[in-house]
Amino acid sequence: MAKRLFVKTYGCQMNVYDSSRMADVLAPLGYGPAEQAENADMVILNTCHIREKAAEKVFSELGRLRKLKAAKAEAGGRMILAVAGCVAQAEGEEILRRAPFVDIVLGPQTYHRLPEMVAQAARAGGAVLDTEFPAEPKFDFLPEPHAEGTSAFLSVQEGCDKFCTFCVVPYTRGSEYSRPASAVLAEATKLAAAGVREITLLGQNVNGWHGEEGWSLGRLIRELAEVEGVERIRYTTSHPRDMDDELIAAHAGLPQLMPFLHLPVQSGSDRILAAMNRGHDRAAYLRLVDKLKNACPDLALSSDFIVGFPGESDADFEESMALVREVGFVQTYSFKYSSRPGTPAAAMERQIPESVKEERLAALQALLLEQTTRFNHACVGREMRVLLDRPGRYAGQLLGRSPYMQPVHVKAAAHLIGKVVSLRITKVHPNSLEAIPA
Ligand code: 5AD
Ligand code: SF4
Repeated sequence: MAKRLFVKTYGCQMNVYDSSRMADVLAPLGYGPAEQAENADMVILNTCHIREKAAEKVFSELGRLRKLKAAKAEAGGRMILAVAGCVAQAEGEEILRRAPFVDIVLGPQTYHRLPEMVAQAARAGGAVLDTEFPAEPKFDFLPEPHAEGTSAFLSVQEGCDKFCTFCVVPYTRGSEYSRPASAVLAEATKLAAAGVREITLLGQNVNGWHGEEGWSLGRLIRELAEVEGVERIRYTTSHPRDMDDELIAAHAGLPQLMPFLHLPVQSGSDRILAAMNRGHDRAAYLRLVDKLKNACPDLALSSDFIVGFPGESDADFEESMALVREVGFVQTYSFKYSSRPGTPAAAMERQIPESVKEERLAALQALLLEQTTRFNHACVGREMRVLLDRPGRYAGQLLGRSPYMQPVHVKAAAHLIGKVVSLRITKVHPNSLEAIPA
């Protein structure tokens, strides 16, 4: 009988990718998708450890799942419960202690071994824990990815050697690893053949990717642009320090590379950037933005910001606000600093009170909302290439994404789904843009 798998994903796009690959790994065992945990035979929580709140959510969700699992057992069935991802990696033992009803705990580097773990869990009474960093890269053992829709993630790089003082990623994801170019291009070719038109290359330090052939990410993107059917390319998340000339040149010369770049800066204050161990200052970031905008005048930027990093004064915070204006970010993800056990920043003096963090976050987000709105209005009248990817809310309407990831709706025939079309933006709605054929 077919079994049903429910995967709940927390955190970043890398986890979204990993979740779909875990489903691919389990498909040969007869697992198909379940709509919700309630009727699943196996539930995987793919977790995020980046901030305390994200990690704590996992434990409250486990409390809920415990009841579902017990109900299922009472009815004579069985639910296998797995915790995957970065909380599993960092707190595997703790999970088994606090939630002994969990069957499997696996880190982000071992999910190619899931079938063995499931078999083991079915046999054994106790839990299976696998949070190794195995010598064999998991990518060599994963089945073919299966594509759904017109846009897909493709993981090319994992791990981080940068050791920003606030961040757990170097500990949970390990050191930087790049997949070989040949494997990436083969996966892209399969995705394109299955109807994918837009590929987003993923990595914790995606532009730190380097191929065995001595290629950098710019070169990989050039090769990817040659793959038949690949019409749009994006990459995320980049580090300013790894932004080399070849990648900047790709922004100038490749129409497939979308003019929208997520380039986290974290803070606008040199003092805080140094305490964060970012390896660049404000001026270096601004020089980089200049170079990128020279290469691609249409480029729009987004960033991550942390407010309330230990020692951040009002003046430091004002420098972040000023940088947001100066760069003209059209989007940001901003976070209150969250102290993570084991990171250097957790031990720093002058931790900032929660109320101050909240005020700063609200101010930054208000400024960003203003800038995003201004950018959206500036798009009215512009012609944009939009990838139409699904039916809209109303009959005869399709939804798609602009080069800047804005949702766009247009009256168009259903056969255009999966096509990149030229549209003229006519109106700004609260959560989308409206367009007509150009
Ligand atoms: N507290 C708050 N935000 C954090 N980030 C990473 N670690 C922390 C932390 N300890 C943010 C950074 C990073 C994004 C993925 O999450 O801005 O770019
Ligand atoms: Fe974390 Fe910094 Fe590495 Fe990004 S570059 S994953 S913020 S340590």
